[in-house]
Amino acid sequence: MRPRVIAGNWKMHHGPAATRRFFGEFSPRLSDPEATILIFPPAISLPAAAESRGGRPEVSLGIQNIHWEPKGAFTGEHSAAMALAAGARFALVGHSERRHVFGETDAQVERKVAAAIGEGLAPVVCVGETLDERREARVEEVIVRQLDAALLGVPENAKKSVLVAYEPVWAIGTGETATVDDVAEAHGILRRRLKEVRGDGFAQEVAILYGGSVNPENAADLLSVADVDGVLVGGASLDPESFARIAEAC
Ligand code: 13P
Repeated sequence: MRPRVIAGNWKMHHGPAATRRFFGEFSPRLSDPEATILIFPPAISLPAAAESRGGRPEVSLGIQNIHWEPKGAFTGEHSAAMALAAGARFALVGHSERRHVFGETDAQVERKVAAAIGEGLAPVVCVGETLDERREARVEEVIVRQLDAALLGVPENAKKSVLVAYEPVWAIGTGETATVDDVAEAHGILRRRLKEVRGDGFAQEVAILYGGSVNPENAADLLSVADVDGVLVGGASLDPESFARIAEAC
């Protein structure tokens, strides 16, 4: 059985003080979640998150982006080891904003995945097509290409430490959620591809999350779709009440 994962990507929201306030309100609202709760604060807020999530061992932390090198002259970047030392256990890799706003490539995603695993962080590999790519019926081509590149960075013995997030770019921050049929199709493609590339044992252990305008109202429906093992929530994870409601939806 794959574990359920309810993840929140705060993007560039919630500095250290807001992070402490979030956990002060979120932790008491969380009754007894069956899922792993995973929060990706801005890197600068990781220590505040690690201190203030106290008493909730089911809440794990992650970093939104890492550099592939362990150290060096890379102004503004963070290494996987630094993220680990600051309390992260997961790393988002290849989020669509990294790819489309900052020009991150499949080759960089591969190196970041390898760096994360090398340091003991579990990468959450994000894949997803743009609206133009969907209109051109290229969903499978795009997400399989992105997945294949990321898998090149996963050593054979690291099967338990990788997660995948399907986030169609057109559904991120737009209020437009993919239909359950769209989600089922994309997740099925990804599961099949994991099996083709790495075998059934590997494929069955990889949690595949859906992200894109997830909210407390649609979370339960999305979580009921075959091959959806969790959700990656942006905007609705910023508010402790709405994120707690999503966490209770599974
Ligand atoms: P929204 O939930 O705000 O659409 O963001 C999704 C996302 O990008 C999570 O990584």
